[in-house]
Amino acid sequence: MREAGPYFVRTAARGDLPAVRALLIETWHDTYDSLYGAARVAEITDAWHSIAALETRLAKPNCEFVVADSGEEIGGMAFAEALDAGKTVMLHQLYVRPQRQGRGIGVALLDEMEACFPDACQIRLEVEEANGKALAFYDAHGFAQIGRTENCGEGGSGIPALIYEKPL
Ligand SMILES: CC(C)(COP(=O)(O)OP(=O)(O)OC[C@H]1O[C@@H](n2cnc3c(N)ncnc32)[C@H](O)[C@@H]1OP(=O)(O)O)[C@@H](O)C(=O)NCCC(=O)NCCS
Repeated sequence: MREAGPYFVRTAARGDLPAVRALLIETWHDTYDSLYGAARVAEITDAWHSIAALETRLAKPNCEFVVADSGEEIGGMAFAEALDAGKTVMLHQLYVRPQRQGRGIGVALLDEMEACFPDACQIRLEVEEANGKALAFYDAHGFAQIGRTENCGEGGSGIPALIYEKPL
């Protein structure tokens, strides 16, 4: 359990999923409406962040799904998966509610993800090239660009992204 002010990071449970879904919808609109348009963001979040999709992630083997909880609200979430026989951690999601950003919750979630996979050699993620706030955050925390993809996230999304990696 890691603390960031009044928030502590813990494993997510089934009962958290409605709050996690609300957090993802709010944060996605705040982050991506100016890039993709609100309608496209609503379409993506409906598909990727449905309760059913989140439930699948909770039960997925070799994965960690954590939330930052203040006791009153969920302020952030992260979801990561061990790949390459555990050598690579893929950080699929890292989201902090817009009003709660910049107070250490993102770092606490990232630290917890790294600690959850002690055998991993590197942690990797995909990040939208125009998402300056996220790029600054990853640059400040030891990540560097190692490539790019034309299909960020699940399936053929058609969303280009940079691939960032940090040695562990
Ligand atoms: C990116 C994100 C996860 C970071 O979480 P956060 O809780 O806001 O970040 P933290 O408060 O833990 O940041 C800690 C440190 O990161 C660095 N950092 C964060 N934002 C920064 C910025 N805009 N410029 C430079 N450094 C920055 C700083 O070192 C900062 O420490 P300090 O503020 O104490 O000096 C969060 O802003 C977020 O959810 N953004 C929207 C969604 C998103 O883009 N997610 C990532 C998708 S790939």
